Amino acid sequence: MRKGKIMIIYHESSKTFHLYNNEISYIMCVLPNGHLGNLYFGKRIHDREDFSHLLEMKQRPMTACVYEGNRKFSLEHLKLEYPVYGSSDYRYPAVEILQENGSRISDFTYVSYTIAAGKPKLQGLPATYTEKDEEAQTLCVKLKDEVTGIVLELLYTIFTQRGIITRSARFTNEGTSSVHLLNAMSLSLDLPDKDYVWMQFSGAWSRERHVKERRLEQGIQSVGSIRGNSSHEHNPFIVLRRPSATENAGEVMGFSLIYSGNHRMQAEVDTHDTTRITVGINPQNFDWKLDCGESFQTPEAVVVFSDKGLNGMSQTFHKLYQKRLARGYWRDRPRPILNNNWEATYFDFTEDRLVEIAAKAKECGVELFVLDDGWFGARSNDYAGLGDWVANRERLPQGIKGIADRIEEMGMKFGLWFEPEMVNKDSDLYRAHPDWILQTPQRHSCHGRNQYVLDFSRKEVVDCIYEMMYKILSEAKVSYIKWDMNRSITECCSAALPADRQGEVFHRYILGVYDLYERLNTAFPQILFESCASGGGRFDPGILYYAPQGWTSDDTDAAERVKIQYGTSMCYPVSSMGSHVSVVPNHQLNRKTPLHTRANVAYFGTFGYELDLNKLSDEEISEVKQQITFMKEYRELIQFGTFYRLKSPFEGNETVWMTVSEDKKTALVFWYRERNVVNADFTRVRLQGLDPDLIYRNEYNETENYGDELMNLGLLTTDCTAGEPTSEDQPCTDYESRIYVLTAK
Ligand code: DGJ
Repeated sequence: MRKGKIMIIYHESSKTFHLYNNEISYIMCVLPNGHLGNLYFGKRIHDREDFSHLLEMKQRPMTACVYEGNRKFSLEHLKLEYPVYGSSDYRYPAVEILQENGSRISDFTYVSYTIAAGKPKLQGLPATYTEKDEEAQTLCVKLKDEVTGIVLELLYTIFTQRGIITRSARFTNEGTSSVHLLNAMSLSLDLPDKDYVWMQFSGAWSRERHVKERRLEQGIQSVGSIRGNSSHEHNPFIVLRRPSATENAGEVMGFSLIYSGNHRMQAEVDTHDTTRITVGINPQNFDWKLDCGESFQTPEAVVVFSDKGLNGMSQTFHKLYQKRLARGYWRDRPRPILNNNWEATYFDFTEDRLVEIAAKAKECGVELFVLDDGWFGARSNDYAGLGDWVANRERLPQGIKGIADRIEEMGMKFGLWFEPEMVNKDSDLYRAHPDWILQTPQRHSCHGRNQYVLDFSRKEVVDCIYEMMYKILSEAKVSYIKWDMNRSITECCSAALPADRQGEVFHRYILGVYDLYERLNTAFPQILFESCASGGGRFDPGILYYAPQGWTSDDTDAAERVKIQYGTSMCYPVSSMGSHVSVVPNHQLNRKTPLHTRANVAYFGTFGYELDLNKLSDEEISEVKQQITFMKEYRELIQFGTFYRLKSPFEGNETVWMTVSEDKKTALVFWYRERNVVNADFTRVRLQGLDPDLIYRNEYNETENYGDELMNLGLLTTDCTAGEPTSEDQPCTDYESRIYVLTAK
């Protein structure tokens, strides 16, 4: 086995596949009944002609066995690649197909395989990609269920660099009757033990992606969404870490689904303590009719293995999602510093008022002014206007072109908010097409924020919204779009589909969203898209393919943002996190945090302001100007450097993270303390990723230290002055933070 070369090997004599690179091995074989079994996934091991000793088959009581005369071969106790229920395996399956005769059993047996350089595109779905064929190899294993004629192709891509495997499944009906796919997972992986801590990233509106963890135990642990969007509640991302694994050491596996709709991430530990992970579209409400000759492609799942702890895993996801999932003009570019008017004005604005806000922003160094909700149709509150994507001439007398020109003339870029998937009943669009919303006949339709969900499973609906958006975007100079989505789906039913295809609507809806994104990306390749769903309700890798950044949360309070951004960073790169400085008292929870802390947190994202800078004092404005100068100097490093989490807000009073440049010559360390501490200890934090032999100058402490000292002894963060008498008008030093800039000499 040559080092540095990625390989997919097939050993014919033992019918074994070995996918490996320098970091990982993924080994499978064809089982005696023709199914595909898993033998190993983890740190790279030597290749062998035959790994069949890893197939442990023993006679066990109360076990259903496949062949008469053989009491050892049962699917129940084997590690399987794409398991079915109903033929001796009693764990939850990867696939369930309802057939004409009512049976749900299938029996996918091995037919053939192909190995290709690079990675094929997934039709109509977001997925990771390669730019050169040498970056990856893809194995396609073809299996067939002879009774139904359904062909199953399991796709596995291994990337040359890092511990990444991507997986998906494609079904083609080569039989003579239709079937219903009731469950079609993207990934199923059986692990030989349960010695893991399960981590999930859960929350709600304004407290998205908090880190939650617990030991795996017998039974099922699962997170998911059946809301139609990936959700604020549970991100399509889970981690299994060995109990001894930390941020910087130990074995960790991350599972991520590149999908923005209903998902399920599940671990089932059986009573022999083996673990089955399944990742894919949530089977609840899923029923895809597959007619003869038709195919169904599942979304892509990504699994990352790291033996360098959680940071090692996150860095792999960051690089992959930044460079080989996100696309287009903005992929590698530092993001513009923006000022969004939402929290400054809400619906209460005129064109002149907007220009006033923009002018002050320009004076401070802001590069992009974003006009949020309220510029279109009869939208003066959230009861009306959604769906009518034409400028409201009372507010914007010269339309979008008028305001965009005024902003451009100031030397700034102009950005615009849309919520393309939604409609208010009080809109021209709804009045013309009342049947274009998702609704169930004879049932009451629930609203969310007074709005209804357009049926994006229908092409004519997507076409109509595209036309309206295209008109605005081609008439005015718009450089940025904030694509919002402010409610989940209810009464999910499409007037355009027959009864036996209603189980397809949730998925078809998301395909419609992807289609609109793709068309707009193609028509306007230089527009920067930022996704949003009431903050972080659809912050997932599916959307990242079309919009390289997303509004991380509606919660702009710095203390809350520390937790949200920390949890988000487990999977998503800093360049993807929309993060702004807003006013105090904060609009979400009335808290007051210092201006420098609000900026220090917001730097670790795309950075901007969500306020009217005219309302700040002269002193604050000069601080804002310094913040913008600082961000312009360091944004490339912050957004694209190697990110390390050092101290978790979920574990203590302090949070620390840092980013290091590729050449290791510059690093920024973010330190945050929630509550002041009286008569505190001397404190230090051990840094990561520096060059041990370089001397780093630390402006804040006015010190110089070797990298090895900073990494092994630590950076001094001591602040034991609290408790000394302070004057009454000195600010309280709760929510204190600092940025340490380290520059190699
Ligand atoms: C929800 C978003 O998260 C906010 O930033 C803002 O755009 C509003 N919608 C506008 O309605």
